[in-house]
Amino acid sequence: MSSQYDLLAPFYDDVIGSNSSSKKILLSSAKKYLKKNSNILELGCGTAENLTIFKNDYNLFGIDISAEMLKHARKKIPTGKFYKGDIAKFELKEKFDLIFCLYDTINHLESFSQWISLFKSVEAHLNHTGIFIFDFNTLHKLNILSQSDIYPEFPENDVLLLNVNKKSRNMFNWDIKYFKHVSMAKYNLIQSRIPESAFETSKILSGIKKHFKIIKTYNENFKAVSKNSSRVFCIAQKI
Ligand SMILES: C[S@@+](CC[C@H](N)C(=O)[O-])C[C@H]1O[C@@H](n2cnc3c(N)ncnc32)[C@H](O)[C@@H]1O
Repeated sequence: MSSQYDLLAPFYDDVIGSNSSSKKILLSSAKKYLKKNSNILELGCGTAENLTIFKNDYNLFGIDISAEMLKHARKKIPTGKFYKGDIAKFELKEKFDLIFCLYDTINHLESFSQWISLFKSVEAHLNHTGIFIFDFNTLHKLNILSQSDIYPEFPENDVLLLNVNKKSRNMFNWDIKYFKHVSMAKYNLIQSRIPESAFETSKILSGIKKHFKIIKTYNENFKAVSKNSSRVFCIAQKI
């Protein structure tokens, strides 16, 4: 089965994945929890750009549902182990010291029971006192975006249009139109629709507390989480 991200894979790093520097800052700070040769797993690793922060000193693993995104990941980190699979429920032979799931990847799971299932799979794959880092788009952010105009971006000579549409109380679609400049006034149009779910922040944090001790939560500016936060980062530890 193909994934919506297969279409985005060729330009993901340049156009979409590069939009968040906070995830790299957060991951660099996670090195204090690790020893040399620790096992690290990224859920929804995409092109494995995040994992490059840990290249050389650690054993790197990634899971993603998109075969095309994984092709880029394998090329970028040939020593990594990459698996095609569903992060809502995964079973690997290895155990990990750090598992992370960033850039609202968890929002791609469409029901809250899948979010909980991911938490349970993470718990089962972490070593004792292992660390889980994830982030999510808040319901507040997706509600605001769904009431806003389409916002265009202009990477190089290309045009990227992002439009968030609300489908139900907890479901939204990111409608993506990417006009790739070919020559003069000629563009190729690549279209993709990415569904995202969002739930109340308190509900998500209560869900995580059943499986982990929360070490820290931040908003998108590394400040305290509030009802107006657009993204929440959470660092949790297996108990
Ligand atoms: C927003 S991208 C994030 C990629 C990368 N983590 C980053 O920070 O740039 C979401 C990724 O999650 C993957 N994905 C979405 N749903 C998934 C699922 N159920 N199982 C595994 N991967 C999934 C997509 O294929 C895509 O590569």
